[in-house]
Amino acid sequence: MSEPPSTADIPQGDYPTVELKDGGRAILRPITPADKPMVQEAFRRLSREARYSRFFTPLEVLDGKLLDQLTTADGKNHVVWAAMDAQNPNDPGMGAASFWRSKDDPGEAEFSVTVADDHQGRGIGTLLLATLWILARHVGIERFRLVALSENFPVLHWMETLGAAVDCDNGSTCEVVLDLSEEARGRIPMTPEGDELLRWLDRLSGLPKSISN
Ligand SMILES: CC(C)(COP(=O)(O)OP(=O)(O)OC[C@H]1O[C@@H](n2cnc3c(N)ncnc32)[C@H](O)[C@@H]1OP(=O)(O)O)[C@@H](O)C(=O)NCCC(=O)NCCS
Repeated sequence: MSEPPSTADIPQGDYPTVELKDGGRAILRPITPADKPMVQEAFRRLSREARYSRFFTPLEVLDGKLLDQLTTADGKNHVVWAAMDAQNPNDPGMGAASFWRSKDDPGEAEFSVTVADDHQGRGIGTLLLATLWILARHVGIERFRLVALSENFPVLHWMETLGAAVDCDNGSTCEVVLDLSEEARGRIPMTPEGDELLRWLDRLSGLPKSISN
């Protein structure tokens, strides 16, 4: 059995530790190339369903160009952050999310998120969405586009409860557009999902300041 990945190379910075609704604690931080072994291990532990939902293919191993892409961000056009388990520093992370600015439309970015199976349903997807929302707004992104399999009811339901536009006309996939503007934030529905997202958006509003040192 291979050694569990180490998180000794956590990048320095004033990254927040936040408390989840069940009392667990998560450290939010960017993913860097030094995280490659950890990201591979996190992928290895994912269920086939979660991998398929995220990558739309029965991918067995994460390596090569895709691994490079997922661990090499520039903090402006491509941003990748993880939620690490503060109580289990050797765990390869609770989840991660990224956005990639569109070349054709700089106000838009493709967003994706994956939460480890054991940690799903704890609010980590919402926490990561809020984190990337705040960071995206900071670099001038106004909309997230997300592509999900049309059978991915949890994510489609989630996005609908947040007031996103969901278009499933394509058959096998649906396109979701989530408006990140100030006005749209004021229109986030008063659902449990919407309330939780707003709570994190407020709580994390100072994030860009705390990391721009
Ligand atoms: C989609 C995903 C990121 C959600 O992560 P999560 O940490 O479980 O999300 P949260 O706990 O913040 O829940 C957010 C909302 O999603 C919905 N949801 C989550 N799991 C659900 C499930 N099993 N069934 C129905 N709805 C579900 C709910 O609306 C939930 O809100 P609630 O807890 O207030 O009811 C996670 O299920 C995942 O990683 N799936 C595999 C990868 C994927 O599909 N990514 C999306 C495409 S890029």
